[in-house]
Amino acid sequence: MNNNYHAGYYDMFKVDDADIEFYKNYIKSNTQVLDLGCGSGRVSFPLSDIAGSVYGVDSSKEMISAARNKGCNDNLFLIESNISTLNLDQEFDLIIAPFRVFQEIDVCLENDFFQVIEKHLKTDGICILNVYDPSFVYTREEIAAKWLEVGGTVRGETELSDGGVVKYFDRRLKSDEVLQELYAELVYQTYCGDELIDEHVNSIKQRYFYPDQFLDLISSYGFEVDHTWGGYNHQDYGKGPELIVAFKKGASESAGR
Ligand SMILES: C[S@@+](CC[C@H](N)C(=O)[O-])C[C@H]1O[C@@H](n2cnc3c(N)ncnc32)[C@H](O)[C@@H]1O
Repeated sequence: MNNNYHAGYYDMFKVDDADIEFYKNYIKSNTQVLDLGCGSGRVSFPLSDIAGSVYGVDSSKEMISAARNKGCNDNLFLIESNISTLNLDQEFDLIIAPFRVFQEIDVCLENDFFQVIEKHLKTDGICILNVYDPSFVYTREEIAAKWLEVGGTVRGETELSDGGVVKYFDRRLKSDEVLQELYAELVYQTYCGDELIDEHVNSIKQRYFYPDQFLDLISSYGFEVDHTWGGYNHQDYGKGPELIVAFKKGASESAGR
């Protein structure tokens, strides 16, 4: 199954939180935020401490209930829904999809995804999307082969309080350079001594985009690019590990293609 996140393991191996400070620059005490693919609330919670309200949306029952179990600020609303069918009766000042959520959106849901942004973004609101920049590591010619050649990477290892050990790694299964899709498994294994006592496999399919393609894609849905960066340390676009694009509604009404 695609996109089978396990909240406990996801939270065990924290991703770099540099994006949180980055998003905070866009938030005032009355800002209404929509966090698409909020997961277990890594970004929603700290933003809700300073924003007017944060609506976090995720299709994973597991991730949303893990977020709910962390306690809820009065101004944080957690919604179990696929982004592509989201229909809230509300518009937002800031829409985000942190940690490359957009790369997990299937190409056939891409139009719906941008329609959802169009519907929920205020006229003067800002949407910030981020994906990784494959050209930071690989040339266009080599990504499909080189990415697969590596086979997998160790992503982390952590010791549990009962002495058990959790190992986190990925397996790379298939790359499609025409569709620009990468298929992998994120694997978590818990060991007690040498004995494997639990394993969780999250099968993911990620699209990837080159810097010019990502900008063209956003513009093709009628949005107006406001600012770009190559990473959360404000690197220049195309000169860092991330592609971060802030955009607004364009002059024309519809974001559909
Ligand atoms: C890499 S995690 C990022 C979680 C969170 N944004 C963060 O930064 O920690 C991707 C999240 O996007 C969610 N997701 C992926 N596709 C989705 C979709 N179509 N609708 C709703 N959630 C989706 C997954 O369930 C997962 O929780």
